Amino acid sequence: MNRSDLERVAAAMVAKDKGLLAADESTGTIKKRFDKIGIESTEEHRRAYRELLFTTPEIAQWISGVILYDETVRQKTREGVPFPEYLSKLGIIPGIKVDTGAKPLAGFALETITEGLDGLRERLVEYYQRGARFAKWRAVIDIGQGIPTRFAIAANAHALARYAALCQEQNIVPIVEPEVLMDGAHMLERCEEVTGEVLAEVFSQLERHRIHLEGMILKPNMVISGKKCPTQATPEQVAAATMRCLARHVPAAVPGIMFLSGGQSPAQATLHLSLMNRRPALPWQLSFSYGRALQDAALSAWGGKAGTFAAGQREFHKWARLNGLARSGAFQAGMEQQAA
Ligand code: 13P
Repeated sequence: MNRSDLERVAAAMVAKDKGLLAADESTGTIKKRFDKIGIESTEEHRRAYRELLFTTPEIAQWISGVILYDETVRQKTREGVPFPEYLSKLGIIPGIKVDTGAKPLAGFALETITEGLDGLRERLVEYYQRGARFAKWRAVIDIGQGIPTRFAIAANAHALARYAALCQEQNIVPIVEPEVLMDGAHMLERCEEVTGEVLAEVFSQLERHRIHLEGMILKPNMVISGKKCPTQATPEQVAAATMRCLARHVPAAVPGIMFLSGGQSPAQATLHLSLMNRRPALPWQLSFSYGRALQDAALSAWGGKAGTFAAGQREFHKWARLNGLARSGAFQAGMEQQAA
């Protein structure tokens, strides 16, 4: 492990005004996104769509890194330049999703454990050679009747820490992503309680696995009301609860917190980030690592049709810029109505 290399990459990921594009949808997930707009999920369509995102003019002003998927890390632009090389030349750091997905946790109905540790060291060596300098592993925690159990939280935190240790051994910055889903009918208070419990367990495991906290990034959910909850918290309440929860559980040694959007609308996710960044003297950089919130508008504008490439790029650029503004609290509600 080269600590200063890890620290340098982590700092670059959370550089001023910038955040990450999560473009690491697995083949199954991108098919779901394409189905919505009626595009067949062929390898060429997946490649063309990722090319649209990565070749968006002037995107490096707002995007510090891109999370790729195993297929995408091997794909090339139309001119034949491998995506990781293309991004690196723009000053955008390539990263890679390395978990193999959340699978049913045996003995615990309704809960999952994220897999992908077997052979991970060897895969990390290859990804590093292909240009990846950071990685991502997502644990999934659902809220419902009787769940999450303490056991599922502990098992997922342990796997996250083992992954993080292997990444740092290979000089790859681990993004540690314990996602508490917003799918349920729970109140914001329940999300805060569960998120706090999950973060406490994750940092306890990270410490036991000797993780160099200065060389990692945390990717959490925001503390938010469940989608089906009849009482929806205000943006100010979400910002306050999220900050309270993070302040209690995330060591100041962690350089950056890069949120997932998790099914919030692009405008909501952007406003929440902006409100949090208006608070003074935060111990960590607060940034974004959004999939849907950065891509939804671009995907619809593109629609897989000829002649819509530039329209898709304008939408991606717009949402990257608005989130870039949110990095310093400069995004205001309603700004998204203005032209791209
Ligand atoms: P969303 O922002 O769409 O939640 O995706 C981020 C991500 O990488 C989830 O693992």
